[in-house]
Amino acid sequence: MEGDIATSAAAKGTVCVTGAAGFIGSWLVMRLLERGYVVRATVRDPGNMKKVKHLLDLPKASTHLTLWKADMTEEGSFDEAIQGCEGVFHVATPMDFDSKDPENEIIKPTINGFLSIIRSCVKAKTVKRLVYTSSAGTVNVQEHQQPVYDETNWSDLDFIYSTKMTGWMYFVSKLLAEKEAWEVSKQSKIDFISIIPTLVVGPFIMPTFPPSLITALSLITGNEAHYSIIRQGQFVHLDDLCEAHIFLYEDPTAEGRYICSSHDATIHDLAKLIREKWPEYSIPELKGIDKDIPVVSFSSKKLVGKGFQYKYTLEDMFRAAIDTCREKGLLPYSTQTHENGKEKESLPVATKDQANGQVNGSLPVSAEK
Ligand SMILES: NC(=O)c1ccc[n+]([C@@H]2O[C@H](COP(=O)([O-])OP(=O)(O)OC[C@H]3O[C@@H](n4cnc5c(N)ncnc54)[C@H](OP(=O)(O)O)[C@@H]3O)[C@@H](O)[C@H]2O)c1
Repeated sequence: MEGDIATSAAAKGTVCVTGAAGFIGSWLVMRLLERGYVVRATVRDPGNMKKVKHLLDLPKASTHLTLWKADMTEEGSFDEAIQGCEGVFHVATPMDFDSKDPENEIIKPTINGFLSIIRSCVKAKTVKRLVYTSSAGTVNVQEHQQPVYDETNWSDLDFIYSTKMTGWMYFVSKLLAEKEAWEVSKQSKIDFISIIPTLVVGPFIMPTFPPSLITALSLITGNEAHYSIIRQGQFVHLDDLCEAHIFLYEDPTAEGRYICSSHDATIHDLAKLIREKWPEYSIPELKGIDKDIPVVSFSSKKLVGKGFQYKYTLEDMFRAAIDTCREKGLLPYSTQTHENGKEKESLPVATKDQANGQVNGSLPVSAEK
């Protein structure tokens, strides 16, 4: 076994993935293990089997995966996990949209935690590339939407602070963290690239309702607070996103920011798709949202220009997300009503709260924390 690890580590190397138990982190770990990487997965609570079992159950986990305790709120917390790694995928982020203290619970830990991870990379002296999972929230959160966005665009911080829309503290945290990271990584001469996913939809191996599916499936769950995010939305399949992470990590010529987004759709397009493919769900009429709102596009030209190919359609993403939620008992098979007007099958209470992001007043990501 040790020989196996040595062989593949020599071939592919050792990488660290932060936020490894989450929606994107766990799928990325799975794909990295499949490729033969030795993976150090950081989580805040490695002893909590409810939160890490899906990682330990992955193929090759027994030989190629180790769990490391690390927290973005503690300076130097990632030093040990990163020491000796050739690559670092910084995926973790605090994501509680209902935080009572967004500055201290979301914004500061996101920025300071990221800077601390860059310092860990510098200290390690072994890290050849740091890949950051950024967010579309760093790009197009502004008063008037452009028809097309690319990697040169940055969200309007003043607009975010003055509007305080759903998820505002997350947008601020991701924007400031990435901007700081560009400065610091240049000074530290760390090879740093950022990947900007739009809304990530797809299958998942984590046990709880993934945060982004609260938004993506909000038409099914009726969580209207999230409609603003999908009003003029952009989407990418989780598997395409993780493949793009590995693709760019492995391309020595990759540099700068890369948008990773395969489909643009308005909330009306999405409602039409769900009504057609899943007629068992009651989708609201969306009165009050202009039928002719234009599509807002995120251009993946830079990523595709490098030779990356997307594999999945918008329907693929939603089918995989809905199927996985159903299999895990996180979404009912139908929300259609009987002729007498009563719900045939409503969301189970716990699931309804999870899908609406209301467990303990926070998003499902914190439901078990
Ligand atoms: N999903 C999307 O649609 C989407 C779109 C654009 C960008 N992104 C970005 O993708 C990344 C992953 O998102 P996700 O959807 O996978 O969310 P997720 O499931 O909530 O995963 C995030 C992980 O971050 C970890 N985390 C939270 N606070 C932390 C802290 N103080 N210290 C260390 N780890 C902490 C949590 O790990 P533990 O609780 O296990 O320790 C959690 O598993 C984020 O950076 C997000 O900004 C996501």
